[in-house]
Amino acid sequence: MRGIEDTTKSLDSNVSLKNKEAAAAEAQQLVDWFAQVQGYYEAKGDAADAVGFSRKTHALASELRRALASEDYDAASDTLGLLVRSCKTCHEVYKNK
Ligand code: HEC
Repeated sequence: MRGIEDTTKSLDSNVSLKNKEAAAAEAQQLVDWFAQVQGYYEAKGDAADAVGFSRKTHALASELRRALASEDYDAASDTLGLLVRSCKTCHEVYKNK
């Protein structure tokens, strides 16, 4: 998941700098990534919370992508904050297990 951290950091600065194209591309990467994570946990079974966390993170990435498309950087920044929190929520339960 290391790439995802770099993408998220870069996304954070691109949202601050209002680099629409770069930020939108990164938001799209997160959307794709968490669709895969969700699929992984769905297939794995017995990880209903992880399915929920990945779905939530995926939904936030989609929302972020929409905010960027309409150049609403305040909403993008708020959504990014929630997204980063949702990374941590899942890690608290599932990382190092
Ligand atoms: C659905 C659960 C879940 C979500 C949501 C999630 N992660 Fe993770 N993450 C994990 C698990 C499980 C591990 C540990 C296993 C692994 O490394 O694959 C992990 C490990 C990591 C690591 C350590 C890398 C490594 O290889 O040790 C980083 C960095 C990371 N995640 C970043 C993020 C970021 C940034 C987000 C949000 C954009 C995020 N993660 C969202 C479950 C999640």
